[in-house]
Amino acid sequence: DWKMEDVLNEEMEKIRRQVGPTDHVICALSGGVDSTVAATLVHKVLGDRLHCVFVDNGLLRYQEGQRVMDTFNEHLHLPVTKVDNAERMLGRLKGLTDPEAKRKAIGADFIDVFSEYAHKLEKELGHKPRFLVQGTLYPDVIESCPPPGKGQKHSHTIKSHHNVGGLPEDLQFELIEPLRELFKDEVRALGRLLGVPEQFIARHPFPGPGLAVRIIGDVTEGDRLEVLREVDEVFINSIKEWGLYDKIWQAFAVFLPIRSVGVQGDQRTHSYVVALRAVTSSDGMTADWYPFQPDFLRFVSTKICNTVRKVNRVVYDVTSKPPGTIEWE
Ligand code: XMP
Repeated sequence: DWKMEDVLNEEMEKIRRQVGPTDHVICALSGGVDSTVAATLVHKVLGDRLHCVFVDNGLLRYQEGQRVMDTFNEHLHLPVTKVDNAERMLGRLKGLTDPEAKRKAIGADFIDVFSEYAHKLEKELGHKPRFLVQGTLYPDVIESCPPPGKGQKHSHTIKSHHNVGGLPEDLQFELIEPLRELFKDEVRALGRLLGVPEQFIARHPFPGPGLAVRIIGDVTEGDRLEVLREVDEVFINSIKEWGLYDKIWQAFAVFLPIRSVGVQGDQRTHSYVVALRAVTSSDGMTADWYPFQPDFLRFVSTKICNTVRKVNRVVYDVTSKPPGTIEWE
């Protein structure tokens, strides 16, 4: 792709000029495509003057922390420090049921972990890294500075999306945003050019607050996270097996804080209910529910109830956006 090669060379040259020969750069990886591509690009220019952190906040999917670390290490050779913050995060979420309160707690916790990492890095280097890499895309740029007369896109006011905004005073950096002029499909093309593995490039978007917005109510109660992870894994693997993954914008399971009566074997059960959601979309602003064939729905509901003990009912969400949002919280 000649156009992407030009973009790549231009962005590399910009970074070289912006950072100069000695300064260091910090980057928070989310495990998503944007931050991964941005970091890989910067790494190509600066090598070990780039320092990345990946936070496992306890709200990731089935074995996700390990899986993305393997990609960073084995395929991309990125210098990444993994911070395991699940215990503290879940402690902070205990008792919280309001969606915005949950998001705020998760955002605040991320800022804390990032600050701790940055301060530690500063000690190790003997000086503060001057730059921060962010995977900001062109649509983020337009959304956060609406033209005069136009309001902000509503997703920002309806749900507070958290990225690395709101860092404290002593942690202000100059930004490196190599994806600022690109759309998502261009970022994917650039990622391919940089050798980011295909299964990573094609991954569905995953929200910053993770599974917390897919468990209605208190995230920490009982085995909710564990059950949701198992159901989600069965659902996603089934979608892949049936060759449907690339036709869908996002697919996931939602844990509902209710129990239903069922019968499994000769036993009457009183177990969990999960909802499945899958949508098509071009930008996440509007979405349509995905019309699975009945055969697929039958297959996946049977598989979930057979493999995830404690789940005896599966429902499928047939709401588009609007009036629903993609996530349930
Ligand atoms: P909604 O649920 O608002 O989601 O229709 C639109 C897109 O945004 C993602 N999403 C989030 N991403 N932090 C994020 O980084 C958030 O708090 C958040 N809430 C929703 C959602 O997964 C979908 O892709």
